[in-house]
Amino acid sequence: MDIRIYKTNKPDLKASIAIIVTKGSKFEASFLSDKEYNFVKQSLEKGETQVLINQYTRLVFVIIIDTKKQSGDYLEDSRKAGNSVQSVLSEHKLETIKAFHSENNADILMAFTEGLVLGSYRFNKYQKKSNKDKTVPLKEVGLICQPLSKEKINSAINIFKAIYKVRDLVNEPVSHLNAVQLSSELEQMGQEVGVDVEIFNKSKIESLKMGGLLAVNKGSVDPPTFTVMEWKPVKPINKKPYILVGKGIVYDTGGLSLKPTSDSMDYMKSDMSGAAIIGGVICTIAANKLPVHVIALIPATDNRPSGNAYAPGDIVTIMDGTNVEMLNSDAEGRMVLADALVYAKKYKPELVIDVATLTGSASMAIGPYALVAMGTASVEIKNKLIKSGENVYERIVEFPLWEDYAELLKSDIADIKNVGGKEAGAIVGGKFLEYFTSYPWVHFDIAGVAFSKKNDNYRKKGGTGFGMRLLYDFFCNLCSDQ
Ligand code: BES
Ligand code: ZN
Ligand code: ZN
Repeated sequence: MDIRIYKTNKPDLKASIAIIVTKGSKFEASFLSDKEYNFVKQSLEKGETQVLINQYTRLVFVIIIDTKKQSGDYLEDSRKAGNSVQSVLSEHKLETIKAFHSENNADILMAFTEGLVLGSYRFNKYQKKSNKDKTVPLKEVGLICQPLSKEKINSAINIFKAIYKVRDLVNEPVSHLNAVQLSSELEQMGQEVGVDVEIFNKSKIESLKMGGLLAVNKGSVDPPTFTVMEWKPVKPINKKPYILVGKGIVYDTGGLSLKPTSDSMDYMKSDMSGAAIIGGVICTIAANKLPVHVIALIPATDNRPSGNAYAPGDIVTIMDGTNVEMLNSDAEGRMVLADALVYAKKYKPELVIDVATLTGSASMAIGPYALVAMGTASVEIKNKLIKSGENVYERIVEFPLWEDYAELLKSDIADIKNVGGKEAGAIVGGKFLEYFTSYPWVHFDIAGVAFSKKNDNYRKKGGTGFGMRLLYDFFCNLCSDQ
């Protein structure tokens, strides 16, 4: 991310400026001529929420935010406004903006900045200059806001950087990011911020008997990896660690239960979104030195058909000795996550959260508007997660884990099957994972939100990083609740 974000005292005459105004209150007129002021006033009276004045050397934006709404909603309006401002600026080939809120509301200003910055993301490293879009990327954001601390800006910069990095990883195709490459990317990210990273290679994975990960990897020409990342601050708020587990399928063809090519396989480079997201979250926690002990576990491989690929009907033995009757090789995420969830037991965790593009069914059920969660953690923890989701507009819909669903996974010849039939796919996936947990646990199915096929406001086409701001907010709140 090449955008400089800084606190500044005064607007100048050269830079473009965004004036954010609470609905119903007066707006700053000193940047506008009488004619311009009247034009803005009339537009606002007509109910417009964003007015643009082109002063030729710069643009002046007046943005109205309705703080009578719920805070989660008006902060999202602020992000969307930030995104639309960056898109107008870049069309005008302007690289600099200054912004302030008429009543010095730092949260609104930071949400606006989030929209500006996340909306400016582009993935164009594989395009010649002549093929790149001709708009100019944002370079500088000056924030005018007395109560806004430099620390707050810096910690926001760290999460923005992490989201850029995670989106890059998700957008990187398997031709350029196999499991080994993913783990070394995570290692590098960790090293930059003081996170310990250990990468298990195939022989270590074999000695640990991670049969789920090894089975999925059988069809691959590349070896699997299992990456362990740890942030252990000097005086953590927690005695037992929080563990994040991420699905790291660097490409999902479905294996022998091959996916149809068009549409359903085209974007399966994004099947490691969970891995990238939790890697980004633990690194942001470290960069911002949050006093919370967190461990991230990332099983990674691609899932392909080949002469040696695992075959429907196979019995696969997970690390804890559980025999799984594998009846659909496309339900591979749960196979690799089972080993990671078993591995997590050795830490006696306070809470485990797994993040996975697990089922098309989660996406079909609620669309790209929220992630699907389920789990055995306390209502208190679940409510905190839901609250964080509302704060940052990465919302959560909880699905039940009723015992009835376990019936669907009963196998005639093994301990459990890896698929349950046509109905309730997301829940059955969650129910399978639950089998391998023995601690408070939450599962995030991000299949509907991890990757966007079209520009969706500040969530650009491609990897979105959805869930990162939610988890980061959750850990921040845990630390400040102490
Ligand atoms: N990676 C897919 C899920 C997915 C689908 C992610 C669409 C993103 C967008 C997962 O491994 C998968 O194929 N799940 C199967 C499970 C089924 C075989 C029980 C599915 O959802 O169809
Ligand atoms: Zn699959
Ligand atoms: Zn998958």
